[in-house]
Amino acid sequence: MIRPVRAEEWPAVKGLRLIALRDPVAHIAFLDTYETAVARPDTYWQERTAGAAEGAGGVRQFIAETADGTWAGTVAVLVEEAGTTDWAGFPVERRQGHLAGVYVRPEHRGNGLTKALFEVALEWAWARGMERVRLIVHPENGRALGFYRKAGFVESGVTVPLAGNPGEHELEMVVER
Ligand SMILES: CC(C)(COP(=O)(O)OP(=O)(O)OC[C@H]1O[C@@H](n2cnc3c(N)ncnc32)[C@H](O)[C@@H]1OP(=O)(O)O)[C@@H](O)C(=O)NCCC(=O)NCCS
Repeated sequence: MIRPVRAEEWPAVKGLRLIALRDPVAHIAFLDTYETAVARPDTYWQERTAGAAEGAGGVRQFIAETADGTWAGTVAVLVEEAGTTDWAGFPVERRQGHLAGVYVRPEHRGNGLTKALFEVALEWAWARGMERVRLIVHPENGRALGFYRKAGFVESGVTVPLAGNPGEHELEMVVER
């Protein structure tokens, strides 16, 4: 089942995030590190989860839950409003979705679960009137790139300098409604 997180599920949100941050490609997949995340207080996870739960504002985190209650994967949709400036300092021209925190446990990869997770996340964005959904991916994250292409995302031509590594850039990929 694919569904949004609930505010009280913050320990599971934290648990899955820490697993994601130990993935072999975590250094190119996420802007966070295991060491930083594990040191955060419970209040951080409580606020993060409440802010991404059903009924909350500009973020919705979806999880794929298996029949035995395991969280197999996750994606978050951030709503970026037109007229604002994004985290990298670029102006946001149209109201759009931004997918982040994409992670699927290795044993659930390559079987369609990621596709199902993305379908729910994109449907949520389209239902809220967003005409464009984007994400940022590292050019060396071949599997993620492969999946995003399969899911209909195309490179927009925009590149984003990687914080802390001025020589390196990530790629913006976009899907239009
Ligand atoms: C990214 C992720 C969610 C993708 O989900 P997935 O279930 O593994 O994706 P799929 O296997 O359905 O699709 C990947 C595709 O890329 C292809 N691929 C794999 N490695 C590749 C590579 N190095 N270069 C190009 N394509 C590659 C696969 O063959 C597959 O295509 P196919 O189905 O046509 O064979 C998952 O791998 C993951 O959680 N990775 C670790 C975290 C991460 O990288 N997150 C993304 C941060 S931007």
